[in-house]
Amino acid sequence: MNTFLKIITLVCISQWPIHALRAQQPDHVTIQVEINKEIASIPSNMYGIFFEDINFGADGGLYAELLKNRSFEFPQTFMGWKVFGNIRVREDGPFPRNPHYIRLSSPGHPHKHTGLENEGFRGIGIKAGEKYRFSVWGRCPEGKNQKIRVELVNSQNNPVTKTHLEIQSPEWKKYEIIIEPNRTDAHALLRVFLTSEGPVDLEHLSLFPVDTWQKHTNGMRKDLAKAIADLHPGVFRFPGGCIIEGTDLNSRYQWKNTIGPVENRPLNENRWHYTFPHRFYPDYYQSYGLGFYEFFQLAEEIGAEPLPVLNCGLACQYQNNSQKAHASLDSLDPYIQDALDLIEFANGDTTSHWGAIRARMGHPAPFQLKRIGIGNEQWGPEYPARLQLFVKAIREKYPEILIIGSSGPSAEGDKFDYLWPEMKKLKVDIVDEHYYKSPEWFLANANRYDSYDRKGPKVFAGEYAAHHKSRDNNFISALSEAAFMTGLERNADVVHLATYAPLFAHVDGWQWKPDMIWFDNLSHVRTPNYYVQQLYSTYKGTHALRTSSSESNLKGEGNIYATSAIDKENSRIIIKIVNTNEKDTRLTVRLGKSKYKLSQKAELISLHSDNILKTNTFKHPNEIIPLKSQLTLENNQIHIDAPKYSFSVIVISYQP
Ligand code: AHR
Repeated sequence: MNTFLKIITLVCISQWPIHALRAQQPDHVTIQVEINKEIASIPSNMYGIFFEDINFGADGGLYAELLKNRSFEFPQTFMGWKVFGNIRVREDGPFPRNPHYIRLSSPGHPHKHTGLENEGFRGIGIKAGEKYRFSVWGRCPEGKNQKIRVELVNSQNNPVTKTHLEIQSPEWKKYEIIIEPNRTDAHALLRVFLTSEGPVDLEHLSLFPVDTWQKHTNGMRKDLAKAIADLHPGVFRFPGGCIIEGTDLNSRYQWKNTIGPVENRPLNENRWHYTFPHRFYPDYYQSYGLGFYEFFQLAEEIGAEPLPVLNCGLACQYQNNSQKAHASLDSLDPYIQDALDLIEFANGDTTSHWGAIRARMGHPAPFQLKRIGIGNEQWGPEYPARLQLFVKAIREKYPEILIIGSSGPSAEGDKFDYLWPEMKKLKVDIVDEHYYKSPEWFLANANRYDSYDRKGPKVFAGEYAAHHKSRDNNFISALSEAAFMTGLERNADVVHLATYAPLFAHVDGWQWKPDMIWFDNLSHVRTPNYYVQQLYSTYKGTHALRTSSSESNLKGEGNIYATSAIDKENSRIIIKIVNTNEKDTRLTVRLGKSKYKLSQKAELISLHSDNILKTNTFKHPNEIIPLKSQLTLENNQIHIDAPKYSFSVIVISYQP
């Protein structure tokens, strides 16, 4: 027995924290890939994304609207605005669910001004040479045409553009102008001045980059949507997370409020405005400009299966102890109807009520909804009591739709142990598991699903992230996620879906970290965790293969984690190896017999950092990125020197 094999037989490493492993570091590991032994089919959409409006992920983030409180519906009417001169708020506007608007009248002196200034979301990001569309609903209440001046002001308080607009009708009409700033600034402001006598009425002031994702006018920030698309996600879970539950039921996410003309989508509080008193964001609301139609459309555009999650009649249980805070069983009908109507909105033909609304919004073809989540992080008997009513109604009307239930807020413990059997009793199709744990937990749990029941509901790892004590997106968090994910892939017959969380965070507006993508008003940073997700979804096989060293299963033995797969669609073998050793490790990958003729050239994609605490920053966004190189196959073997702390993906093509 060689030294390495002696070592791995001595320790039951999968239960040990990372620092305890350091003494057991092999110089050389042999990995055996059995191409003829398929151990699980890998769902084609297994690795996906989870979007929630947390950390200013929607308004101020992915949703490209640059003005905050554009319809004056925040409880403090002028939050986000500074007003000057003669401005009054009125409440009989053209959009019944957003009734407020403003009347600008003469300030009463030729040297005074009437107008207002919007601060954006921690400033307005503008880029020189880019076009921006300013739009506003306006009318001249006294019939005489009125003029306004629209300016972008840079962070030094100097106007960088000035454009004039005439409001020409006593009836409400939408006006648009294109603005082209000649400066780049992350913290610009927008100012609007009344330049005629007045009065003029203005409502729903809006500023969008013209160049949005897929050029949609009510669109998304192009760089952020592209960052999502570059992950090649198979599934897209939305809209949360805790925001579906709300701080209370009134503020729960209600999808029907998020469709139709944006001007008439009612505002909702964002629960992350209150959740952490130490990261308090009193200006955090949901405009719902990014709503369910846009989510479905984005899913389609990035090739991901849409996976909506709905409130089950329970307000956030962390924040509501009393049963009175929740919808009682006999008042659950509207909640269940929302679920049924959502399925019709997504899949119904254009003669159905909700299918017709989808068609009027621009998408007559169905959105191909296959699964729906009911409830987020719920617990206790109140959850299955409600869920069973949803299950019954959905099964009756839409037996083809798969239902996702929840196992609660944590990966183990009383709540989890109670809910899993309940989910089995209710025969939900998939159970959503959430775990935000230390890197050590992720390493120790690479074998978590090896012993899961193969006959029960499948698993959706719906929210997970390794939380280092710094809560940074550092390399050790990414590496431990990569190691853990070898266990997801090996158990792809049980784990059908996996989505990291959260997806986005604004550097000046976050409530929660770590997060996969950080952004400011102009650009974004892809974290090492992002690249781990991207490598898994880009190099995904169709079937997991038996992978072992001669005496172990590579679930952390010798600090090496490995999985391999065959990709029959693209005729390639993919081997993923995570080296958590503190020193470089010589790896020999032996490929077992197969009916395929393997190419003698292989590709190595490697993600590595010598410093496990390092991360990507706005200044150095490419510190840790996947790097490609070539390998040669000799006698069905590949040798690589896997650097300490590295995630290696080896791709070998074959002739089918
Ligand atoms: O991802 C952040 C939050 O974590 C989600 O909203 C919630 O489901 C979980 O507690």
